[in-house]
Amino acid sequence: MTMDRMMIQGTGTPLRGQVSISGSKNAALPIMAASLLSEEPLNLHNVPDLNDTRVMMDLLRDIGAQIVLREPQDGELSLSLKSPQNALNPESPMAAARKMRASVIVLGPLLTRLGRATVPLPGGCPIGARPLDVHEDALQALGAVIHYKDNALHAFCEGGLKGATHRLRVPSVGATENAMMAAALASGTSVFHNVAREPEIIDLADCLNAMGANVQGAGTETLTIHGVPRLHSATHTVIPDRIEAMTYLIAAALTRGDVTLTGANKDHIQGEIACLHAMGFDVQAINATTLRLNAAEVQPKPAQLTTAPYPGFPTDIQAQMMVLMTSIAGESRITETIFENRFQHVSALKAMGAHITQNGETCTIHGGFPLHGADVEATDLRASSSLVLAGLVAQGTTTVGGLHHLYRGYVHLPEKLQACGAKVERLGGGSYAHASATGF
Ligand code: EPZ
Repeated sequence: MTMDRMMIQGTGTPLRGQVSISGSKNAALPIMAASLLSEEPLNLHNVPDLNDTRVMMDLLRDIGAQIVLREPQDGELSLSLKSPQNALNPESPMAAARKMRASVIVLGPLLTRLGRATVPLPGGCPIGARPLDVHEDALQALGAVIHYKDNALHAFCEGGLKGATHRLRVPSVGATENAMMAAALASGTSVFHNVAREPEIIDLADCLNAMGANVQGAGTETLTIHGVPRLHSATHTVIPDRIEAMTYLIAAALTRGDVTLTGANKDHIQGEIACLHAMGFDVQAINATTLRLNAAEVQPKPAQLTTAPYPGFPTDIQAQMMVLMTSIAGESRITETIFENRFQHVSALKAMGAHITQNGETCTIHGGFPLHGADVEATDLRASSSLVLAGLVAQGTTTVGGLHHLYRGYVHLPEKLQACGAKVERLGGGSYAHASATGF
């Protein structure tokens, strides 16, 4: 077992208290990459201080971007990023790219800004094959020539990208972001159908438009982008992390506690709140950014859920919701339709006493049986948070390894749970790979 482990005491004590929601990892990463589109500084606030955002900073520096960061305040970074034309190297080794699949998001900006880009292909991914065909098809529609060599994707476009109309095979979040950024500086108008509709897509479009782009339709299934010659400086505050918010609401429901979220955005999780309501857990909106779930007297009901592209039930809270279902007597079901291998947390939950049977892409959860503590290993980001949640209600002590997955996507998770009364502590060292600030 790795030394850096999280130890959770299953005290059975309901979580009670307040949790501040951090900036969205999945909004911050493409928005940081958008800084490659302009000579002028992009100033960002509410960037979560996570391994993934630190890797993105390293990657952007590999390419030649200049980044000034203000040291984190409560886990949030403020950054100023600048990409002078003569400083960028589209064929940089980008060693950092192999650490994170989201690195492919620099492809669209580099290609449209410089006319060529080479992006190393990241290593394997535990939750699925995660091919790049939808990214390729969209960029080729704009005139890019793409080939693979030496485990890297090479893209060229002589004479610059040209606006086009194209339908995505699936509403891929990353491919939508690459297409949007590539089309922002292409000549002419692009229309993309069957695009992703997540709040993170809207946040990227808002940031690009603040930089002088002309992106219409974000949040709907069709994006219309009128290319412009250049983008300019802007300041943007990243939206709250809806997956983090749902993780803590689920923790409150799981422990039958009473937790208030601050700095959240109810509009981003309407569907998920409806799922919790159907199970008997009501989320009260104190105001637009403050949400409260009080589960003290709830007699919850089992549920049947299927993951789907936004605004459907998010695959990123499937593991956490499965843990909640283990605490509810009766038969619940979850069907995972987005990734082909995103049930890896099931074996660890079964080792903790959960009664779960998997049949292809559907898991049946026979809830109401108590969990017991165990030493378990996280396999991916969202599985790691689900195992910590399970430890909160398991009888005895649970330790969770593979915490590097957790540090990719959750700011100060142990501290936020401790503030609500959880007995959670880290047993090992483990820390972020801190990037060094560089001046202009
Ligand atoms: C984004 O990943 C998120 N990551 C993921 O969150 C999230 O689970 C996913 O969207 C779905 O919502 C970031 O935003 C950084 P996709 P992305 O392209 O863009 C297939 C987390 O936990 N596909 O929408 O990589 C793909 O294999 C992470 O924060 C192709 O077939 O996801 C998958 O089955 C995990 N060809 C489905 O589409 C392609 O070219 C959705 O993938 C691209 C995708």
